[in-house]
Amino acid sequence: MDKFVIRGGNPLLGTVRISGAKNAALPAMAAALLTDEPVILENIPQVRDIETTRRLLASMGAEVELGYGRAHHRTTISCAKLEHPEATYELVKTMRASTLVLGPLVARCGVAKVSLPGGCAIGARPIDLHIKGLERLGATITTEHGYVVARAERLQGGHIVFDKITVTGTEDLLMAAVLADGETLMENCAREPEVADLAALLVKMGANIEGAGTSTIRVRGVAKLGGARHRIIPDRIEAGTYIIAAALTGGDLNVTDCNPAHLTAVLQKLEETGVKVRHNAESVRVMSEGGFKPADVNTEEYPGFATDMQAQYMALATQADGTSIITENIFENRFMHAQELVRMGANIRMEGRRAIVRGKTPLSAAAVLASDLRASASLVLAALVADGETIIDRVYHIDRGYERIEEKLRGVGGEIRRIGEMFPKRATVPAAQG
Ligand code: EPZ
Repeated sequence: MDKFVIRGGNPLLGTVRISGAKNAALPAMAAALLTDEPVILENIPQVRDIETTRRLLASMGAEVELGYGRAHHRTTISCAKLEHPEATYELVKTMRASTLVLGPLVARCGVAKVSLPGGCAIGARPIDLHIKGLERLGATITTEHGYVVARAERLQGGHIVFDKITVTGTEDLLMAAVLADGETLMENCAREPEVADLAALLVKMGANIEGAGTSTIRVRGVAKLGGARHRIIPDRIEAGTYIIAAALTGGDLNVTDCNPAHLTAVLQKLEETGVKVRHNAESVRVMSEGGFKPADVNTEEYPGFATDMQAQYMALATQADGTSIITENIFENRFMHAQELVRMGANIRMEGRRAIVRGKTPLSAAAVLASDLRASASLVLAALVADGETIIDRVYHIDRGYERIEEKLRGVGGEIRRIGEMFPKRATVPAAQG
């Protein structure tokens, strides 16, 4: 398994380009299942979860071209024939977002067989709300041998009020409703930009959707959808991660090809800590001298402070002059990074969903273990300011959601290198969490 070796102490200086959003690309690729015509998606990030999704769609009978040229990161997906409307355990266990195929498959093929994702590092991650929503649209659902099987001659429009705000639940049901017979009203929807981006693609394919990006989405079902070409939005979490890296290292960094409007909560929080942030329509400039005031964080659904930025912020909080209280309101077990940060010298006490971070504590290099995608990012950030050389193991977690992170960091002065096994065995990638 690959490791990162990171020597701390360098301020990040220069410009980092942000890639397309993994969490927008995944539902967009699933949306291609809804039509027998080609769907072309641009600005696709070169990360492991995209390759997993390519394999998942190909296993159903889709033709998926995926290319990462200098000029373009593009995939063309043709689902003219789908012989196996099924997502197997082998694939779903490595990426729980595979459940995004449930809605489109039952809408297009009348049947979908998707392995239950099982839990993951950050929580139980049930998909009961996806299932309840499909039942509201007339699907019959059975669970057989660890698989959810959804069937419907044709889905019927209906009224769905989500018990909890769920991002992929909203996306899954949106993709089911666009081909349902009649009108669907969805309330208490997720408002994440990735939901609005999916809806933009579906409308290009011929869907009739109003309100995506707000809590209430209205869909008028159509009989058929066509192909489309769509450019995936920038990755707001990747951007936020580099912004915090610049703040933490006392750097002066331009984060370009991003959408600062998707980062308001993070940028405001950074300003609360005293970091200077300026932005225009598609880039953010972060200037920091390295001293930070403490600031509390509560993770909330969008547009609140993203749970996917919590671990990265915790690394920054260890360097603040005072106590920051971080409350994780979305997932029940998303503090795995805290213990590793403590091993590097941080002073963090956990109280249920709250982490009390007492700074400033100098961090010293250590051998640490990545447990999930964003926890790994947090350890990279900490290593960038730790004294000495930190070794981070199991960096395949990072490779799931950060394109060429070592190249991007080296490009702005970060001292980071990857060490892999000379003859890597087949990676047995553990349960998914993303
Ligand atoms: C999406 O996961 C993201 N993944 C996650 O990003 C992100 O952390 C999460 O949204 C929250 O923003 C993708 O978009 C691929 P949820 P998702 O359904 O949709 C509970 C990353 O790092 N819930 O919004 O799975 C759930 O347990 C990943 O890129 C149910 O109870 O999250 C959680 O407590 C990690 N029943 C809360 O809702 C359900 O049926 C929010 O989960 C569904 C969810």
